Amino acid sequence: MSISKESELEGMEAISEAVAITLRKMREYAKVGMTAKELDEYGGEILKEFGAKSAPKLTYGFPGWTCISVNKEAAHGIPSAKKILKEGDLVNIDVSAELDGFWSDNGGSFVLGRDIHRHQPLVDASKEILFKAIGRIKTGVKIADIGHLIETEAKKKGYKVIENLAGHGVGRSLHEYPEHILNYRDPMNRQRFKKNMVVAIETFISTRSSSAVTLKDKWTMVGDKGGFVTQHEHTIVVTDGKPIILTRANEIWN
Ligand code: CO
Ligand code: CO
Repeated sequence: MSISKESELEGMEAISEAVAITLRKMREYAKVGMTAKELDEYGGEILKEFGAKSAPKLTYGFPGWTCISVNKEAAHGIPSAKKILKEGDLVNIDVSAELDGFWSDNGGSFVLGRDIHRHQPLVDASKEILFKAIGRIKTGVKIADIGHLIETEAKKKGYKVIENLAGHGVGRSLHEYPEHILNYRDPMNRQRFKKNMVVAIETFISTRSSSAVTLKDKWTMVGDKGGFVTQHEHTIVVTDGKPIILTRANEIWN
């Protein structure tokens, strides 16, 4: 969406704070031995307190309030009761929701407990790249140039990007124009960020794969060549200067 009046900015601030606080509290609540379902139920309760409705459930009939992807799962992991969180797991939580007709999206990867499998460098790379990408976005910047930045920074650090998962416009629905804010440069894409545009910017930084495939459960995505993937996501408003980071309360950069 494009913000055209104060009440729209207020609507976006409210839902963004709800998803951001839910994400932060879930990250803090996650413990070794807990199931993904328990963690998801906790998140679902927080969303409910805000009066917000889970976006993946509402839009796609997703079997959970939030997406919880663990280890080799790259995205859209089902928060099942069979998934038990272990020491050193690479965990990604993605929370998106709707409130009063406004939609916001955010996510982040982290290492649970001690980093016994050494996932932290991949997590840090994703965080840093998102920070750089968002810092570069303003009115008139080409979407393809942000893709180029993400891809270049990932390569510099020895990683790849997932090419078929991307950021997107958000605000009046979960996924809207611009449909794909890719993690690489698409020379055919001439779209530019416009003033007041609301977009979800998300990284997909990978150790081995360049694309993600869906498993037989019809939801979970994994790298086509295996390896690990990290994601960090903020919903922002484009301005002539630095973007307004609507989901800043998630504290994914801290
Ligand atoms: Co998301
Ligand atoms: Co998103």
